[in-house]
Amino acid sequence: MLRLFALLLVFDAVCVLAQGQSIPNTWPQDYPGKPSGDFSPEWQNYFEVKDPLPNVTVPLTRSFAGSIPVNRAGHPNDTLFFWAFEKQNGSLTVPANKTNLEPWVIWLQGGPGSSGMLGFTEENGPLRIQPDSSFVANNFSWNVLADTFWIDQPVGTGWSTADSTGYVADEDQTGEDFLGFLSNVVKVFPSLATRPLYLTGESYAGTYIPYITKHIFSTPNPPVKLRKIAIGDGSLGSLATIRELPTLNIIETNPQLINYDPDVFNYFKEQEHLCGFDLNLTYPQTGGNFPTLLIQSGSSQSSAESLLLESESRYAGLSWKGRIAKKFLEKQTEGSVPLERRHQKREEWKRDLSGRPNGTIDPFYGCDLFDEMVDYALNFSFPWTNGGFDVYDIPDGTNPEPPANARPFFNDDRTRAAIHAPTSKNWSSSFSYPFGNVHNRSAGLPSNQHGDPSVEYVRQLVFRAPQS
Ligand SMILES: *[C@@H]1O[C@H](CO)[C@@H](O)[C@H](O)[C@H]1NC(C)=O
Ligand SMILES: *[C@@H]1O[C@H](CO)[C@@H](O)[C@H](O)[C@H]1NC(C)=O
Ligand SMILES: *[C@@H]1O[C@H](CO)[C@@H](O)[C@H](O)[C@H]1NC(C)=O
Ligand SMILES: *[C@@H]1O[C@H](CO)[C@@H](O)[C@H](O)[C@H]1NC(C)=O
Ligand SMILES: *[C@@H]1O[C@H](CO)[C@@H](O)[C@H](O)[C@H]1NC(C)=O
Ligand SMILES: *[C@@H]1O[C@H](CO)[C@@H](O)[C@H](O)[C@H]1NC(C)=O
Ligand SMILES: *[C@@H]1O[C@H](CO)[C@@H](O)[C@H](O)[C@H]1NC(C)=O
Ligand SMILES: *[C@@H]1O[C@H](CO)[C@@H](O)[C@H](O)[C@H]1NC(C)=O
Ligand SMILES: *[C@@H]1O[C@H](CO)[C@@H](O)[C@H](O)[C@H]1NC(C)=O
Ligand SMILES: *[C@@H]1O[C@H](CO)[C@@H](O)[C@H](O)[C@H]1NC(C)=O
Repeated sequence: MLRLFALLLVFDAVCVLAQGQSIPNTWPQDYPGKPSGDFSPEWQNYFEVKDPLPNVTVPLTRSFAGSIPVNRAGHPNDTLFFWAFEKQNGSLTVPANKTNLEPWVIWLQGGPGSSGMLGFTEENGPLRIQPDSSFVANNFSWNVLADTFWIDQPVGTGWSTADSTGYVADEDQTGEDFLGFLSNVVKVFPSLATRPLYLTGESYAGTYIPYITKHIFSTPNPPVKLRKIAIGDGSLGSLATIRELPTLNIIETNPQLINYDPDVFNYFKEQEHLCGFDLNLTYPQTGGNFPTLLIQSGSSQSSAESLLLESESRYAGLSWKGRIAKKFLEKQTEGSVPLERRHQKREEWKRDLSGRPNGTIDPFYGCDLFDEMVDYALNFSFPWTNGGFDVYDIPDGTNPEPPANARPFFNDDRTRAAIHAPTSKNWSSSFSYPFGNVHNRSAGLPSNQHGDPSVEYVRQLVFRAPQS
């Protein structure tokens, strides 16, 4: 049983490309010493990263990198790019051995269209990029625990390549491509065919990973033994789902938001249950599905909803951080409410929960638990910590994220050659992914309108209870 664990989603920043922009045509690069013929352990020597990397002085374990095709018919230039670090020298290249139960890990970025090299250099890889584009060691790199692959996918993302008609149309194709890639990877590193695989990622990988899992589970003899999946700040289902479902997780992680008050916690927990957000995931799924969170239009709109729609348009164009910051500033300018009165209100609210709905969904907030949580924090936690309440810490632990730019590193010819990266393109951390080979995004649309046809596509956020 897998309790849904998702923190608040922060969409990876993507460069907005106007509609009509041409679709890149890219292909992998052959470097000297490339073996001929099918993939085999002979390729390990070719993929091994042997040349010195610019700016890298920290000791690293052995690593392997390069392009591997996804085996899609008619698209030989469709490849995924991997950079794999061993836990210990030799741990990845051991011969196949069914009693080797050392796990191995795959890390995927989100976007859609963000490179796994972003996580590699900024999050969980052995090299941590600094604001001046130099590197320090990350002693907490995931390859300390297991052989770890950082992968660029779907085809065309980061260092991965695709011909201009070869981008994925949807998530089922993403899953199929990934299986094709894996079937080649296990020929290069045969021990991986039987070792337990932990498939992990963040953000939009929350969409990729379930589809990849679906394809592994529906393939009679899959190339790998998938053991666990893990998704951080995952983007699953609709935007409304992403925003609302993790509210209780946010409170559990940041209980200062509700002043560590168990009654208030239980109140939110009940609301979560009434809204159907406390979903347990199983395979196959037996305990119900994600609630369908849709904006209801037409005359049935409640006044609370109109009010919130209005507030929605007031905050239009702002990120969730921006929205919270704006609300926060508005509260700060409410200087007329003295501190004692705020404390008093908080005590009233806390003590007299009978005034709150019990057993029913709050008629004002509906299932917009995220907004209710933010309002609670702004109403009652602020200025509880005397201005120390940092809106950017809900719940972003790396505040502020250091500005980092790995482009000089990846696009340096020495790096490119050392990691066997393509020369037909330059690396960028993110691009607007052209699902179905079209840039389905015109200027001015929110970043969620990425054109992936496989997921529930909801422009507006939810403000009402789910309809059964
Ligand atoms: C592991 O391999 C790397 C790269 O070849 C090398 O620099 C390092 O010294 C090796 N480490 C050990 C412990 O052998
Ligand atoms: C693949 O890339 C090569 C360049 O290396 C190019 O000549 C060839 O036409 C491409 N194939 C397809 C199907 O796009
Ligand atoms: C297989 O792996 C296990 C565990 O790592 C090891 O004890 C055993 O010696 C290996 N067997 C062979 C034939 O390499
Ligand atoms: C990482 O570990 C090395 C060796 O133990 C140590 O010198 C270095 O200070 C550590 N770096 C950080 C950021 O903790
Ligand atoms: C989810 O599973 C946990 C642990 O088994 C259980 O306590 C909880 O009641 C379940 N939630 C739902 C909604 O079934
Ligand atoms: C809700 O109702 C239950 C059962 O009637 C009661 O035990 C609980 O105290 C009530 N909670 C609130 C917040 O009124
Ligand atoms: C926050 O305060 C406003 C009034 O300023 C009130 O309408 C709203 O219900 C409060 N929300 C919460 C969650 O406390
Ligand atoms: C190396 O680091 C310096 C800063 O120390 C930076 O200016 C430069 O762009 C980096 N070069 C590469 C190739 O990463
Ligand atoms: C990569 O960037 C360099 C420098 O900006 C540029 O000259 C080159 O044309 C680019 N290559 C490709 C394939 O876009
Ligand atoms: C763009 O995406 C929307 C929503 O998925 C879809 O209705 C529309 O047909 C797409 N346009 C193109 C040109 O693919």
